[in-house]
Amino acid sequence: MSSASAPGKIILFGEHAVVYGHPALAVPVTQVQATATVAQSSRRGVWIEAPNIELSSELSDLAPDHPLGAAIRSVFSTLGIDRPPACTVYIQSTIPVAAGLGSGAAVSVAVLRALSSFLDRPLPEDQVNQMAFEIEKLHHGSPSGIDNTVVTFARPVYFVKGRPIETFRVAVPFTIVIGDTGVSSPTKAVVEDVRKAWKAEPDQFEKMFASIDRIVKRARRTIESGEGTALGPLMNKNHAILQQLTVSSPELDRLVSAARSAGAEGAKLSGGGRGGNMIALVQPERTEKVSQALYQAGAKRVLITTVS
Ligand code: MEV
Repeated sequence: MSSASAPGKIILFGEHAVVYGHPALAVPVTQVQATATVAQSSRRGVWIEAPNIELSSELSDLAPDHPLGAAIRSVFSTLGIDRPPACTVYIQSTIPVAAGLGSGAAVSVAVLRALSSFLDRPLPEDQVNQMAFEIEKLHHGSPSGIDNTVVTFARPVYFVKGRPIETFRVAVPFTIVIGDTGVSSPTKAVVEDVRKAWKAEPDQFEKMFASIDRIVKRARRTIESGEGTALGPLMNKNHAILQQLTVSSPELDRLVSAARSAGAEGAKLSGGGRGGNMIALVQPERTEKVSQALYQAGAKRVLITTVS
């Protein structure tokens, strides 16, 4: 039997612009995890059991573009295994689906790791990352690759599409409160909408992406130098541009305002938007107050994570 896990992630700065080649900052969230366990089975075939999404199926019954099936098939084809052994791939995840926390990427990475280990041929991390990116394309259409990268390496990442992984140093750890609107919002649809809008008004969108680019670079300098006070206002600025990109929503805006009113230094949506999660930069002694304010404003779940 082999088991493997992968964490969730949040994007601190730069979502959407990152799809167009601009940088973004993202960090793992280890409080939530996807875990895959592969065990020998007395049933014939390769079975996938994913109770979170009520899936119980033999591999050949899954559609060719089903991301779980694609992850499993990609391990067999990469390792040159024509006749897979009878086994069950059991998947469990505490990462909310379609919430901007990288659930799809984490499940892929956990499956790629657990299955390749079960077959006694564990895949190197770079290859896991590359294979997870291919599966992300099924989830997201035209992803930047940031989710699979952060989730695979489980480190803070300064990500630029197509470039080798670059991590960043966190001079002074800081606390992020994550509020879930509970509104399911598949990233693929939002990324496609932004692409349509960008095609219709390229100059305007390029300007907004360029502003996000500057915010991301300043945020990185701020985090690396430990001058924490600038970070909150940068989050607020990034959120304002995401609103202009039309990827916020009334629920996200309500949580963002509630966090700021309760003393957060800054707040923004995180991930694809239109639902899912928002994040707030909060001094450790204020996390309780901000969490309560988020619940009162309609958050379905609140997580607290330290970026270090
Ligand atoms: C999703 O976590 C972040 C987006 O920028 C999409 C992507 O980068 O693939 C919205």
